[in-house]
Amino acid sequence: MKLHAIILAAGKGSRMKSNIPKVLHPIASRPMLHRVLETANTLDPEQLNLVLGHGRDQIEQSLADSTKTVNVVLQAEQLGTGHAVSLALDHIPDESISLVLYGDVPLITRQTLTRCVEAAQQQNLGVVTANVADPAELGRIVRDANGSIESIVEYKDATPQQRAINEINSGILAAPTALLRGWLKNLKTDNSQGEYYLTDVIAMAVADRVAVTGIVAENEHEVLGINDRVQLAQAERILQRQQTQALMQQGVTFADPERVDIRGRLRCGTDCFIDVNTVFVGDVTLADEVIVGPGSVVQDSVIGSAVTIQANTIVEGAVVGDDCTLGPFARIRPGSNFAEGVKVGNFVETKKVELGAGVKASHLTYLGDASVGAETNIGAGTVTCNYDGVDKHRTDIGQSAFIGTNSTLVAPLEIGDGAFVAAGSTVTKDVDEETLAVGRARQRTITQWVSPTRRKQSPE
Ligand code: UD1
Ligand code: CA
Repeated sequence: MKLHAIILAAGKGSRMKSNIPKVLHPIASRPMLHRVLETANTLDPEQLNLVLGHGRDQIEQSLADSTKTVNVVLQAEQLGTGHAVSLALDHIPDESISLVLYGDVPLITRQTLTRCVEAAQQQNLGVVTANVADPAELGRIVRDANGSIESIVEYKDATPQQRAINEINSGILAAPTALLRGWLKNLKTDNSQGEYYLTDVIAMAVADRVAVTGIVAENEHEVLGINDRVQLAQAERILQRQQTQALMQQGVTFADPERVDIRGRLRCGTDCFIDVNTVFVGDVTLADEVIVGPGSVVQDSVIGSAVTIQANTIVEGAVVGDDCTLGPFARIRPGSNFAEGVKVGNFVETKKVELGAGVKASHLTYLGDASVGAETNIGAGTVTCNYDGVDKHRTDIGQSAFIGTNSTLVAPLEIGDGAFVAAGSTVTKDVDEETLAVGRARQRTITQWVSPTRRKQSPE
């Protein structure tokens, strides 16, 4: 039967103490709700039904450019999780499976959900549970001698023996829609919060002799619900740890896997070394034997093999060839495209620039809207003046050229292969290949000169 997913996200999330709806708070820089939707999508449901109430506009806006459309169900008044699901069921046919997820339980995996849906396909009620170290005040799963779920007791109603049970109810469940619809009609609000609790359907299933299949999540983290910022930080750490562990298993060394943040997708070849306090954002690929020094940030970039990114370097939107050395303290901005063996040193900024193989810009330089041919040396303090206040202009430098220290290259400008620009030049006209350009005032040396101090000592 076709699968319909229902994601509950209408609550206020008051414990977050935030102006942002709870489910939009990010984990590894993606809103937790987007993570849940993405995981639900991997099951290829017929439809994603998203129940919204508080912060509805903001949430809908956040989804504006997602590829798969969601059916938004409005729950104007939050009368409980059972009420929220019953509203969504108005959009779902009887002949289907309904899977209920929570917008604030973001680490649930596709594997666990698949098992839960399989139980529902067998005409059972599938309930995701977890064995947790500290079950606190969560509902306990009571199983019979055969291991079948007999009931779920809320903490408040549990006996001391039942409180000793470590298996808890996650709230995530899947059922044949017709059965679920029937149970929801009979929900009551006679509980401490006066709400329609979805969890009550489990007792109803047991009463109706519908088998309740407990799907134990492989990892207790999967069912962690985020209600406040402490839990948000926990989820962040868990996700970060999962990512670094996977990378270590693939052959990456971290100086300290607890001091790295991956906010997106990081792919690595073998024997990469990633130092502390590094941040990876968006889509980043490191080939083999890349070293990323402490305090560096790499975003949406492709880094070639044996590249060394030294401490405190920012790389964004760049393609870096093999054997390059960047930093320390370099800033590589979008559109930077380096061939192999390039060296870009401290306090060098690059933007929209093609650097040929072996180019060196070792210190204190700005290269923007430019190309530099292979083996050219850019001296310390070189600046491409690419902006006239209105438009950007290009600087194209040939190969094996030499740009002397403290040169000001006023674009648009072309400097030929093997050209030599003398230190301290302001270059405003094109320089032919193999020629020397000197663009500075000639030095004068004045011999008949009396220093002001001497003048004061011997007045006329
Ligand atoms: C609920 C479950 C609990 C489960 C936990 C998972 C019930 C009675 N309890 O408890 O078994 O372990 O979630 O995190 O179901 N929501 C709505 N409409 C409502 C009420 C809630 O859409 O009327 C949404 C919230 O936005 C949230 C989710 O449902 O995303 C859970 O609500 P919350 O109030 O956090 O429930 P819990 O007390 O955590
Ligand atoms: Ca919750």
